[in-house]
Amino acid sequence: MLLDTFGRQAVDLRVSLTDRCNLRCTYCMPEEGLQWLAKPELLTDEEIVRLVSIAVRDLGVREVRFTGGEPLLRPGLVGIVAACAELAPRPEISLTTNGIGLARTATALRAAGLDRVNVSLDTLDPDTFHTLTRRRRHHDVLEGLAAAEAAGLTPVKLNAVLMRGVNDHEAAGLLGWCLERGYELRFIEQMPLDAQHGWDRSQMVTAEEILGRLAEAFELTAEPSAARGAAPAERWLVDGGPASVGVIASVTRPFCRACDRTRLTADGQVRNCLFATGETDLRTALRSGAADAEIGALWKAAMWGKKAGAGIDDPEFLQPVRPMSAIGG
Ligand code: 5AD
Ligand code: SF4
Repeated sequence: MLLDTFGRQAVDLRVSLTDRCNLRCTYCMPEEGLQWLAKPELLTDEEIVRLVSIAVRDLGVREVRFTGGEPLLRPGLVGIVAACAELAPRPEISLTTNGIGLARTATALRAAGLDRVNVSLDTLDPDTFHTLTRRRRHHDVLEGLAAAEAAGLTPVKLNAVLMRGVNDHEAAGLLGWCLERGYELRFIEQMPLDAQHGWDRSQMVTAEEILGRLAEAFELTAEPSAARGAAPAERWLVDGGPASVGVIASVTRPFCRACDRTRLTADGQVRNCLFATGETDLRTALRSGAADAEIGALWKAAMWGKKAGAGIDDPEFLQPVRPMSAIGG
């Protein structure tokens, strides 16, 4: 099992399949993009499946989430999902995507065994979408969402990041739109993980502000914290339920104590935290012929060293060198 010195067990594996993306969200990447990982550095599809199977079979991982960059840009995605769905015990399999290309792939992904999707959508306005992502692809995301629902990748979940002066007036509008469609919406506080280091605590839209804006249009009732488990989102019932809304307050109300995540980057490095400053190289072991047990031991050691918390509010906080797009959400 993947335990750490604070008694936490990692059962939720996030696998980044590529660091590339077809959007350029301002809170994530600079306009010109980044220096992408070179092909030989990336794990092959077979290497990914081997590592996921070690995690599921030997290390107690129960849930596998594919992320990016944008995971739909990975040519072998459907095959990777299919191979992971064959594992015993069968893990839950989900995908965090910006939705572009999902219209074409949702049915095949569902057939391969994908259980759910989280689609990132920060605005209902195509021009604001362009301001936030620097691309005119709003319509593609809406089509992707509809396709995910039609393919049975339900409940469809949406992630939204609010940026001051850009889309922070849209909190209630986004929620109303999701309620009409039966989508589950979660707001995420902007985190200091952008490659260009543009994050500014004083500019960040806080969970408290988001809830204040939602409360102008909806009646919110906090779900008991016992129902939260290891979920990063705190949930509120909307207008008495059953619909709800989530807020992931990674900065103002961190949930590190209940964290059950382990992360694998597209180039085969284990990260025990989104904000970790160190990584453990599994790719070299894999490529030098290590047995499953040796790889499992490296992974366990990587998780054992997990820190108590991300420490965003510590005066000594250092942003990780690797940006969010190369770690996976
Ligand atoms: N802060 C908060 N959320 C972010 N995401 C990407 N970068 C950041 C950041 N700096 C979100 C994306 C996506 C999810 C994977 O993480 O919008 O929904
Ligand atoms: Fe791409 Fe996601 Fe980064 Fe936006 S936040 S640029 S969709 S990886």
